[in-house]
Amino acid sequence: MNYHKFDVVIVGAGGAGLMSAMQLAHGASIAVISKLYPTRSHTGAAQGGVAAALGNQEEDHWKWHMFDTVKGGDYLVDQDAGEVLAREAIDAVYDLEHWGLPFNRTPDGKIDQRRFGGHSRNFGEGPVRRSCYAADRTGHMILQTMYQQSIKNQVRFFNEYMMLDLLMSDGQACGVVALCLRDGTIHTFHAKTVVLATGGYGRAWRITSNALACTGDGMAVAYRRGIPLEDMEMYQFHPTGLYKIGILLSEAARGEGAYLLNNEGERFCIRYAPTMQELAPRDMVSRFIVQEIAEGRGIDGKDYVYLSVAHLGKEKIDAKLPDITDFARNYLGVEPYYEPVPIQPTAHYAMGGIPTDIEGRVVTDEQNSVLPGLYAAGEVACVSVHGANRLGTNSLVDLIVFGRRAGKHIAAKWLPEAEFAPLPSDPDAYATEMVEGLLSRTTGETQENIRAELRDMMMEYVGVVRSEESLKNATAKLVELKERFGAIRLMDRTRTFNTELMEVIELGNLIECSEATIAGALARKESRGAHYRTDFEKRDDANFLSHTLAYRSETAGAPELRYKPVVITEFQPKERKY
Ligand code: FUM
Repeated sequence: MNYHKFDVVIVGAGGAGLMSAMQLAHGASIAVISKLYPTRSHTGAAQGGVAAALGNQEEDHWKWHMFDTVKGGDYLVDQDAGEVLAREAIDAVYDLEHWGLPFNRTPDGKIDQRRFGGHSRNFGEGPVRRSCYAADRTGHMILQTMYQQSIKNQVRFFNEYMMLDLLMSDGQACGVVALCLRDGTIHTFHAKTVVLATGGYGRAWRITSNALACTGDGMAVAYRRGIPLEDMEMYQFHPTGLYKIGILLSEAARGEGAYLLNNEGERFCIRYAPTMQELAPRDMVSRFIVQEIAEGRGIDGKDYVYLSVAHLGKEKIDAKLPDITDFARNYLGVEPYYEPVPIQPTAHYAMGGIPTDIEGRVVTDEQNSVLPGLYAAGEVACVSVHGANRLGTNSLVDLIVFGRRAGKHIAAKWLPEAEFAPLPSDPDAYATEMVEGLLSRTTGETQENIRAELRDMMMEYVGVVRSEESLKNATAKLVELKERFGAIRLMDRTRTFNTELMEVIELGNLIECSEATIAGALARKESRGAHYRTDFEKRDDANFLSHTLAYRSETAGAPELRYKPVVITEFQPKERKY
């Protein structure tokens, strides 16, 4: 009953997972395992759009998009991957259109496009309209469209199953073990191919735009099985989260002309980035805000500034930004038609993750050795297409381009040759021991304080601004939290929809991801993209133009770090000016 066999098991039902599934729906037997009901996946929270150089509003070229991606990523982008992203975004967006995605339209019926941070015309001359969008609910529309298509194509879903372990034998991935949340049973999925598409880990920070489910499950499971995590220190803060809550207020607002204002009513971004202004990349705008606050120009001397959309007028606000203005009304009691909205940077996106090549195949070392049968796509993966800082709208591009590539590669190149590798003996032993251990322990600390202290620690020491001192504090605190986590106890020891059990496993996953993040950040003695160190304020290409690979170590107490070179094809690293 608890054994299942499929050619392909895809873990995660967000944009990347469903895009992979769509390529495989005819021919292979596939299962999609999801911790959530699929349409609750975090792709649904993406707001402002998906970039593609369609040129529907003004001249645009995929090479400009590639350049912006590389420059925005502070030259840590692998440029072969950046080229694929920009070039294939165009066809991937048309796929979505043909599947029925209700994009906003130009008067002549083409997909409408708007401005977004860091996207420019002619290699940085000024903003360009590249983001294809469906109001401020683009991710929601992508998810609904692809889920409907998956159902139509008879993709088999296992909803509310949480992956606990990845199975390997004969040097090949051969399945996963998952917990059925409904009844607490453990299930083994035997497969020729596993695709990890489980998203990010923003819940490691206190202020975050990420959904409760974003707990780094895929990254942590792979990390425990000896797969490195790449560039985890590169974690993005989005400049405009709702004050104190972190919910995203899309950069689309600034793309449509909204301003950021300090306590003096000044549009301070103009001082820092005269050309792109509020549309400089996110790492920079987040730092501008932090600096304004540090220098006493936060609103009323507090730790927030204003996002003002009122001058756009009701009609534009209602047509283009309906959801985010509702968030401001509902959560802060502010009326954006007339009042500025308090915002602060919010933990938003992992540029790092499980290393893959441009086909989505997981690679495990500096030589990019492929782990047969294992693929990853979307935020869980590091292709690396975002380098040290992702441009807004490139996350949805990443999902659809690399989800699609992974699916196509599996169908055309892997499955025709692949065999089922035998399962290890006792395939569910590790997962069973984990669950039974948690359900049987009767003494120890419950999870709440560990979780809260982890999130506070990551916010304080591993945020927009870091230093040797803050990262050493983070390292020490994490050691303490890991020890306390090792003796954790549940209040609820039942098996039916035991959400406490799920949350504790998630907390363990967040701790693993945080460990790799802190270690990578401490070792990277430079400032690059989202990784800003007050003790090393400059980018240091001589020593750090390379990707970090963090390998989990049982014995050392901290991960082993190795480095691999960045792929540079067209654009030599230069100073970033906006
Ligand atoms: O601001 C936004 O709408 C977010 C988009 C993104 O993260 O790509």
